[in-house]
Amino acid sequence: MATQTEEINRRRTFAIISHPDAGKTTLTEKLLLFGGAIHIAGAVKSNKIKKTATSDWMEIEKQRGISVATSVMGFNYGDYKINILDTPGHQDFAEDTYRTLTAVDSVIIVVDVAKGVEQQTRKLMEVCRMRRTPVIIFVNKLDREGRDPFDILDELESELKIKVRPLSWPINIGAKFKGVYNIYEHSLDLFKPDKQKVSERVEIDNIDDPRIDAEVGENDAAKLREDLELIDGVYPEFDPQEYLKGELAPVFFGSALNTFGVKELLDCFVEIAPSPRPIEAVEREVNPQEEGFTGFVFKIHANMDPNHRSCIAFVKVCSGKFERNSGYKHVRSGKIMKFAAPTAFMAQKKNIVDEAWPGDIVGLPDNGSFKIGDTLTSGENLHFKGLPSFSPEMFKYIENTDPMKAKQLDKGIRQLMDEGVAQLFTNQFNGRKIIGTVGQLQFEVIQYRLLHEYGASCRWEPISLYKACWIESDDAEALAAFKKRKHQFMATDIEGRDVFLADSSYVLTMARQDFPKIRFHFSSEF
Ligand code: G4P
Repeated sequence: MATQTEEINRRRTFAIISHPDAGKTTLTEKLLLFGGAIHIAGAVKSNKIKKTATSDWMEIEKQRGISVATSVMGFNYGDYKINILDTPGHQDFAEDTYRTLTAVDSVIIVVDVAKGVEQQTRKLMEVCRMRRTPVIIFVNKLDREGRDPFDILDELESELKIKVRPLSWPINIGAKFKGVYNIYEHSLDLFKPDKQKVSERVEIDNIDDPRIDAEVGENDAAKLREDLELIDGVYPEFDPQEYLKGELAPVFFGSALNTFGVKELLDCFVEIAPSPRPIEAVEREVNPQEEGFTGFVFKIHANMDPNHRSCIAFVKVCSGKFERNSGYKHVRSGKIMKFAAPTAFMAQKKNIVDEAWPGDIVGLPDNGSFKIGDTLTSGENLHFKGLPSFSPEMFKYIENTDPMKAKQLDKGIRQLMDEGVAQLFTNQFNGRKIIGTVGQLQFEVIQYRLLHEYGASCRWEPISLYKACWIESDDAEALAAFKKRKHQFMATDIEGRDVFLADSSYVLTMARQDFPKIRFHFSSEF
């Protein structure tokens, strides 16, 4: 039987992130194909929300329903146990993605060679940078016309604010794309478009090997040698330590759709990507090697079917061993909980699991006792630091339309907030409740769910706000003076913290000028 250390060392838990359409779903599917978790392309249903459906969120939820099955995709690859955590493609659900990033040990970013770095990628990279998550970049769609790879590297570096180091290099792109030279392994992979099979690999001794000329032609071989010389001149040797610190991103080129460059990526990934690492809790650092079990809830998936109201809480195992039917402490409530049917996904099948190791994700059936960020332990009072809440982008007053159902509405709002669907602010001046989201869709989701799951009806009323700012000051008097002056715009978040609701960027700038002793934050942890 493998020891805990062996189990930990062979685990790779990561997420693939990208701007919609860059190829995240396609790449995920190809990785599963290599892992033997699926056998034909097309088996993974995209949880991408189709563009036509943006106004029809029920359709989106139906599509999202599929994502329960693909929330975590576990499979074995050689000696490694790989866990891919799925993230929603639609940007209105970006909060879900941020939270999933708290549960991964590394990230693969997919970038479209023609489009370069796009908005969503930039935002997600900020979260990675904040958490110092190691990232590998896969530049996709080399079979299509795109930008010069050197330009792409420059853009990655400046837009994502991270040093880069190519570990593979394309020979032409678009119609003339011939293959990729694998700098990491010193081999040549020739491009034969095929959606099902692996590319053809040519063994070469070194970059001067005449076999390269024979395979790709003299001109392209000469250009390749020139490019590689330039790369060696410009970019320092790849340093795995720098990658692990989140300071340097290795870059691979390929075409996910044609299964090209994917195996190279995967082989290098399992070798260099981190296994579960120590995690900061409020009280202390928790090492995966510890004997006692610890884990935290990073996602709650509600069942939209009113006949089956249960949720699944997804828990990342941080240390020790999780065992079925063992008693674990739910730190927030102090209760001991036992789980008779924890689940995990292995090779696309949902199974009840008897045990799970650090890096693994277990799904725990839940009916309302969990909240995002909750910690479970073998008994210790620990609190893992979650991801801070960010200022929402959109705000609306939520109003009760059925006075008989006020209690149901309150309960529903509270539970939906616990699930992390949106953020609730209560105006300190008039007690009105304001819901903040990252996208219009959440308002529709909340209204529908309140009605169907809690029997509570609500309506939205407009409020024009620019940002929610968490405020603090070392000077209690200054804080009191600010709150007095801005009393109509002061709110309390769900944790009871003071939040200033700025209705325009001008107002915020003025507030900063007038109250230099107050610090304004766009996220809830500072
Ligand atoms: P996403 O999850 O990041 O949103 O992207 P997804 O994998 O769904 O890919 C977006 C589109 O790009 C898909 O086409 C997909 O087939 C295509 N694609 C992915 N990788 C490559 C590649 O290496 N080369 C080329 N040429 N295309 C690629 P679609 O037409 O939007 O969807 P579908 O109807 O083909 O599924």
